[in-house]
Amino acid sequence: MAEERTYPPSPEFVKHAHVKGMEGYRALYKRAEEHPGEFWSELADKELFWFEKWSKPFEWNPPFVKWFVGGKTNVSYNCIDRHLTTARKNKVAILWEGEPGDQRMISYQELHRLVSRFANVLKSRGLKAGDRAIIYMPMIPELPVAMLACTRLGIIHSVVFGGFSAEALKARIQDLEAQVVITADGGWRRGKEVRLKPAVDDALADCPTVLDVIVYRRTGGAVEMKPGRDRWWHDLDEKTAETCDAEPMDSEAPLYVLYTSGTTGKPKGIVHSSGGYLLQAHMTMKWVFDLHEEDTYWCTADIGWVTGHSYIVYGPLSVGATTVMYEGAPDCPQPDRFWRLIEKYRVSIFYTSPTAIRAFVRQGDQWPNAHDLSSLRLLGSVGEPINPAAWEWYHKTIGKERCPIVDTWWQTETGAIMISPLPGAVPTKPGSATLPLPGVLPDVVDLNGKPVELNHEGFLIIRRPWPSMLRTIWRDPKRYEEQYWKRIPGNYLTGDAARCDSDGYFCILGRVDDVMNVSGHRLSTMELESALVRHPAVAEAAVVGKPHEITGQSVACFVTLKQGNWDHEQLAQDLRQWVAHEIGAFAKPEQIRFTDALPKTRSGKIMRRLLREIVTSNTVAGDVTTLEDLSVVTRLAAQTEEE
Ligand code: PRX
Repeated sequence: MAEERTYPPSPEFVKHAHVKGMEGYRALYKRAEEHPGEFWSELADKELFWFEKWSKPFEWNPPFVKWFVGGKTNVSYNCIDRHLTTARKNKVAILWEGEPGDQRMISYQELHRLVSRFANVLKSRGLKAGDRAIIYMPMIPELPVAMLACTRLGIIHSVVFGGFSAEALKARIQDLEAQVVITADGGWRRGKEVRLKPAVDDALADCPTVLDVIVYRRTGGAVEMKPGRDRWWHDLDEKTAETCDAEPMDSEAPLYVLYTSGTTGKPKGIVHSSGGYLLQAHMTMKWVFDLHEEDTYWCTADIGWVTGHSYIVYGPLSVGATTVMYEGAPDCPQPDRFWRLIEKYRVSIFYTSPTAIRAFVRQGDQWPNAHDLSSLRLLGSVGEPINPAAWEWYHKTIGKERCPIVDTWWQTETGAIMISPLPGAVPTKPGSATLPLPGVLPDVVDLNGKPVELNHEGFLIIRRPWPSMLRTIWRDPKRYEEQYWKRIPGNYLTGDAARCDSDGYFCILGRVDDVMNVSGHRLSTMELESALVRHPAVAEAAVVGKPHEITGQSVACFVTLKQGNWDHEQLAQDLRQWVAHEIGAFAKPEQIRFTDALPKTRSGKIMRRLLREIVTSNTVAGDVTTLEDLSVVTRLAAQTEEE
C-alpha cells in the first residue's frame, strides 16, 4: 500500500525539533536497544516526579513485566501539581468547546482545584486506593477531571465510551466489580441530546457491587435519581475542600482498565500500570508530537478509547500542554467544524483518524479552504491504515505541504505509540508508519516465529517488553498469556499483519485475527455474533469485515433463521436495532444477508475467510436481504479445507 515517494522534514522543522535528524533518532534508538534499563531509568528520573525512587529499572518474568520496581509516584500529581510551581500554573490545560458552542478554558491551577474537589467527593463516599470506578460520560472536562481524581487516590478507573449500550456497560461494570459509576445526564451530538443516565439505570439492575452513582448535569435533561444510590455531582462538590493530597502509588499499581474487543465474545479488560505507562505516554508526546511550550494540541479521539486516554489526557497533561477537547460531531452544524476550531484556537498540532480524513475528502476542499489553517505545524493519524490517497490529501489540503504527518501505529494494549516517524527526523512515506520508536523492537515473522524476507507479509510481533505495555487482562492472566505470548513464545503478538521494506519501514496491513476495525473502532466478530444469536429469530450468525471506502471496514453479517415466516426487510431492520441495543449504535451492521447455511469446516468451524471473500468480491450476488443458498459453497469448502 505504501508509496515509494518520501517526504523529508524541512530544515526549519528539524532545527526546532526535540529529536533532530536521523542521527538524533538513531542515537536514541541504539541506546534504548543496548541499555534499556539505563535508558528508561534516566528518562523516568528526568521527566517524572517520584515520591520514592525505584530499586530496579525493570523485571521481566515472561510474560509478566514490572517497570521501576518499588518506585512510588502518582499520575495525577505528575499531570497537575508539579506544573503549579512553574510558569504553567496559569496556562490553559484543557481548552474545551461544547457542541452548542459553549467554551471553557481550564488552567492548570483550576484543574488542580476541580480534581482535588472531586477526589474529596470520592473520598467522602468511602472510596479508596484499589477500588474501581466506571466512568460513562460525554466529552466534557468533567470526564478527565473524574479520571484524574480517581488517579489521585489510586482508584482504578475504567472509562466506557458513551456510544456503548446499557448491555455493554453492564458487562464491563460486572467484570470490573466496580463500586461507583460516574456519569452525566447526557451530552450533545448533532444537535440532539444523547442521554446516558437511562443506560446506567438499565445496566445497574444487575450490578450489585455498585453502591454509588454520581451524576454531572450537562444537558439539563430529565433524569430519574434513585434515592440512596444516585447523587448530583454539584451537590456533593459544594460541600468539599479545595485540596486533596495525591496518594503515593506503587509504580506498578493499576492505573486503569480499558475494555477492548478480542477474539471471543467477551471483551478484554486491558490493565495499564502507573509509572511505566505515564513515562511512555509522556515521552511519545515529545518524540512524536514534538510538543513545545507554545503549542496548542488537539487530538480528536473520544476519551472512551485508548487514544483519548494517552493523547488527550495523560500524555499532554504530563508534559504541561494545552490540550483541546471538543464535545460533538465533526459536521455540526456544518462540515467545517474542525477547521473552524483550528482557526479559532490557533491549533498547531492536529491528530485524527483516517476515517475522518476520508470523510473530509468526500465533503470537498471548499470546507477547509474557507479557513485559515496556517497555525498548523504537525499532523497525525491513528487507528487504521491510512491509504496513500488520503495521506496526500491531508498533506496538501490541510498541511499545505508544510506539515510533517506522523502515521502512528499502536494499540490499546501497547498504551503508547510504538511505530511512527519522529517528525524532525524520519522522512515519511505515504501509507507507512515508518520506524519503531526508541525501546520498541518489532519484527515481521511467519507462524514459526522466523523473520520473513523484506517486502513479504507476516505477523507483526514485538520482541521485548516496554514500559507502557499492558500488564495483564483484568482477572484473567491465563487469557493474557495465551492471547499475546504463546503463539511466538517470548514475543508479543500484535494480531496485525505487516511488511517491512529495505529502509526498515513498517507498513501495517490490518488485523489477522477475528477483530475488525470500523472507523478505527475495534469490534470483535465473536462479540457481534453472540449478540445476533441472542435474537429470538436467529439460529446462527457469522460476521466479517467488508472493505469500506470511508470507515475502512464495515460490518457484514450472514444469518440463518429459525423456523418461521419472516419478513426479511423488517427483520434486517430489527437486527440492526438489536445490535445497537446489545453493543452500541456504532456497531450496527451495514449489510445483513440471510442464508440457508453457513460455510463450515468438517469440525463445524465457520469459515469466515470464505465469507470475507464473498463480501469483498461479491461472488455471491443478489439482494442483500434475500435468502442465499450457501450450501454449495459450504460443501465445496468443507471438502477442500484443511482442519
Ligand atoms: O490494526 C491496528 C489498527 O488498530 C488496532 C488497534 O486498535 P485499538 O486497540 O482500538 O487502538 C486504536 C488506537 C491506537 C491495531 O492492531 N491501527 C492502529 N493504528 C494504526 C493501525 N493500523 C494501521 N496504521 C496505524 N497507524
